[in-house]
Amino acid sequence: MRATVSRKVYFNSSHRLHNSSWSDEKNIEIFGKCNNKYYHGHNYTLIVKVIGNIDSESGFVIDMKLLKHIITEYVINRFDHKNLNIEVEEFKQLNPTMENIAMVIWNILRKELDRDLDIIIKLHETENNCVEYPLL
Ligand code: NI
Repeated sequence: MRATVSRKVYFNSSHRLHNSSWSDEKNIEIFGKCNNKYYHGHNYTLIVKVIGNIDSESGFVIDMKLLKHIITEYVINRFDHKNLNIEVEEFKQLNPTMENIAMVIWNILRKELDRDLDIIIKLHETENNCVEYPLL
């Protein structure tokens, strides 16, 4: 039997959305306040969903202590209280939109979790705006 378990965590990061091939006017038109050249912060809420078989011996899809450890070690410790554009390697050439942040987090966790497990990332940039990655 398969089930989905999830863990919710929070991190705070700063970023700037900018496309250097666009004019300043177009950047402001498309990215609005997120184009501020002095950066600005968001309080992100990350929900990591893990889908897999319920193990017959443990009764777990995944040991939640292990999931917590992996998220802390590989995501929170790298993203929390950081400037994503400047301090996080993956965003030096990639706009840190919520969509791209979710994709980067999925790629990171995909390397750390058992291949038998499916992963879905839900990332809230604000209370009202969120993304899910990938589409299954
Ligand atoms: Ni922003």
